[in-house]
Amino acid sequence: MTLSIAITSGKGGVGKTNTAVSLAVALGQTGKDILLFDADFGLANTHVLLGTKPSKSVADFLDKKCSMEDSITNFKDGVSILSGGSGLIELLNLDNQRRHQILSGISNLDRNIDYLIVDCPAGAADSTLFFASASDIVAVVLIEEPTSFLDAYALIKAANLETGVKNFAVIVNMADSKAMAKRSFEKFREIAMRFLDVNLHYSGMIPYSKNIKHAVATRTPVAIGQPNSTASTAFREVSKTLIKTPIPKTDKLKFFDNVGGK
Ligand SMILES: Nc1ncnc2c1ncn2[C@@H]1O[C@H](COP(=O)(O)OP(=O)(O)OP(=O)(O)O)[C@@H](O)[C@H]1O
Ligand SMILES: [Mg+2]
Repeated sequence: MTLSIAITSGKGGVGKTNTAVSLAVALGQTGKDILLFDADFGLANTHVLLGTKPSKSVADFLDKKCSMEDSITNFKDGVSILSGGSGLIELLNLDNQRRHQILSGISNLDRNIDYLIVDCPAGAADSTLFFASASDIVAVVLIEEPTSFLDAYALIKAANLETGVKNFAVIVNMADSKAMAKRSFEKFREIAMRFLDVNLHYSGMIPYSKNIKHAVATRTPVAIGQPNSTASTAFREVSKTLIKTPIPKTDKLKFFDNVGGK
């Protein structure tokens, strides 16, 4: 069984890529196999935070230069990366056929994947909605600012109305305290559920952390460089809650046809 998790946000720069990378490492450190798919096409940067340089990207697969398997780079701690390609303008506007090609390339991989983590670009672009709706769990990263709330609301509304996603996991990032983060989530959920037919599940918070800044600067994920830091503990806690997010039954096209759709 492979659980697919999309990491999304309304507003940019709220910490999606950090979260995707850190959750991948946290889950990988429990002995699981993780595929980290960088769906921020053309502007991919998960590999930067991992301190590695993939020689291939999804562009090579789409250009038929290699198989999906060969476009994946094995990192460590059970984590492998499918890069979205950097500086590749043609990847910015993938058409639907190419999105389906990527989805089926990943679905048909002949390797063990316990968790597929998809790092999406900010906002509700068609490509994000496509890969989010193909994931079992759609996680929305929020920071405690009105603009982040508004944009997250817009993303949830678009994903719900355009692709029928009903369940969302919410991660509060750069938080000051556990109590404040939970209160912010509850405030946000109250508004979202008043106006939209959606369910929001709290996955927990990541504190604002100098260790995370340091991890980015040194290109070493915090869970590897500072495994005992508060930030690493928070990622481990969030990962445990996140993977337990309820998954509704659906007939929609998913990365892996083994959860929810039966
Ligand atoms: N919990 C945190 N504490 C401190 N800094 C953080 C935290 N999370 C993220 N950051 C910082 O915020 C910045 C943006 O992070 P990141 O690139 O992960 O955001 P993003 O949502 O993926 O951005 P984009 O929308 O451009 O893809 C980085 O400089 C990172 O170091
Ligand atoms: Mg990012």
